[in-house]
Amino acid sequence: MESLPSQNRNPPPNAGLWPLTTSVDHGGRLFIGGCDVAALTQQYGTPLYLFDEMTIRAACRACRTAFADHYRGTTAVHYAGKALLNIAIAQIIADEGLGLDVVSGGELYVALRAGFPTQRIHMHGNAKTHAELEQALAAGIGQIIVDNLDELDMLRRLTAHRSSPQPVALRIAPNIAADTHAHIQTGHATSKFGLPLDALDAAAEKLCAASGVRLTGLHAHLGSQLFDRAPYAAAVEVLLDSAARLRDRFGVLIEEINAGGGIGVPYTTDQPLPDIDAWAALLGDSLVRGCERRGLPLMRLVIEPGRSIIARAGVALYTIVATKPLPHMRFLHIDGGMGDNIRPALYDARYTAALAERMRDPVEECVAIAGRYCESGDVLIRDLMLPRARVGEILAVPVAGAYTLSMASTYNLAPRPAVVLINEGEARLIQRRETYEDLIAREVW
Ligand SMILES: Cc1ncc(COP(=O)(O)O)c(C=O)c1O
Repeated sequence: MESLPSQNRNPPPNAGLWPLTTSVDHGGRLFIGGCDVAALTQQYGTPLYLFDEMTIRAACRACRTAFADHYRGTTAVHYAGKALLNIAIAQIIADEGLGLDVVSGGELYVALRAGFPTQRIHMHGNAKTHAELEQALAAGIGQIIVDNLDELDMLRRLTAHRSSPQPVALRIAPNIAADTHAHIQTGHATSKFGLPLDALDAAAEKLCAASGVRLTGLHAHLGSQLFDRAPYAAAVEVLLDSAARLRDRFGVLIEEINAGGGIGVPYTTDQPLPDIDAWAALLGDSLVRGCERRGLPLMRLVIEPGRSIIARAGVALYTIVATKPLPHMRFLHIDGGMGDNIRPALYDARYTAALAERMRDPVEECVAIAGRYCESGDVLIRDLMLPRARVGEILAVPVAGAYTLSMASTYNLAPRPAVVLINEGEARLIQRRETYEDLIAREVW
């Protein structure tokens, strides 16, 4: 793939939203990781998702370093695979020394096929099935994070004959409502996730009576796309109160506090870049002080970022296939939409975008980016300032790495996009475009 000397290129407008290796040449063409983005769409077609390996690795390192620097106990960063998981990404995450949270048998299967170290895998889920728990136990994963008492009963039955107990953590609903869209709040009292605080004793009784499992950690996840850090300090307090209660009433010593994920990232220029050091300092400090106050030993601090590891590394590319002028604005119809990115339809997520071959042209009009799917709600961006765009041009949407492809569907039987990983001028297809044959592969007739 063509790669121009970097001195001929400059950072893009709104650089904080694009992968770290993004630049724009004098002609206004977008480059990522040394690759000409529009040229990649010629080669692989659209819709196309690009991932910049350097940006993923940098996010992993920044997170690991920040938590190691700001906490004097041990720390572990587990990537939340629900944000995006495929074999290539899992291998990068493993290579960077992170752990992995899976939330289904399918995610566990991909992790195992990627050769992810099993001890570094944790399994989440509020409705784990018998088969999924069996699969996790057979794989020998590092921890199962139990969500509810029924799961605990199932796990006790499945592990009754084990000689070495399976480490488990308890997910607690800490009764803290974080400031984000209601659909991605998870720590409030009425959340479907996690044990209510008043069920902690019942869980502890069941755990104490079970020889096949060993309670090692407590977990809380407040929600996603959070910018306010204060609720995390409150969540640590709730978790440590629970740890102290387990010690005092049941003689159980908790070794690990898991503060979940949720670190917000900017999708548009009015949102701030994440300050990972500030998150690490707040969590580290809350844990040290909280343990001291309760006479608890220093515990391992675990976090589970998904979005803040992968969102910025991904760029979605679409072709503008048609337009619809209205008196006050124009729709640009693209060849993707809610099938590959349901976030705007699901929870009003906002994005920006640019023309991949005219990054430096002055903006001239306000457009709405309409997806191709048969839903009026399939509008990817409602008010985007762009140069006067033409049919056939390539639209690039930054910050498209998280909760897009992992939520993709084949609605309207439109095949899912190809995925390309970019690194230092090399582009590697890591997931081919879905074919019509794929669409009927499960049909029986
Ligand atoms: C239990 C748990 N941990 C971690 C995450 C990752 O959150 P984020 O991608 O916002 O960092 C999620 C996402 O919803 C989650 O449910």
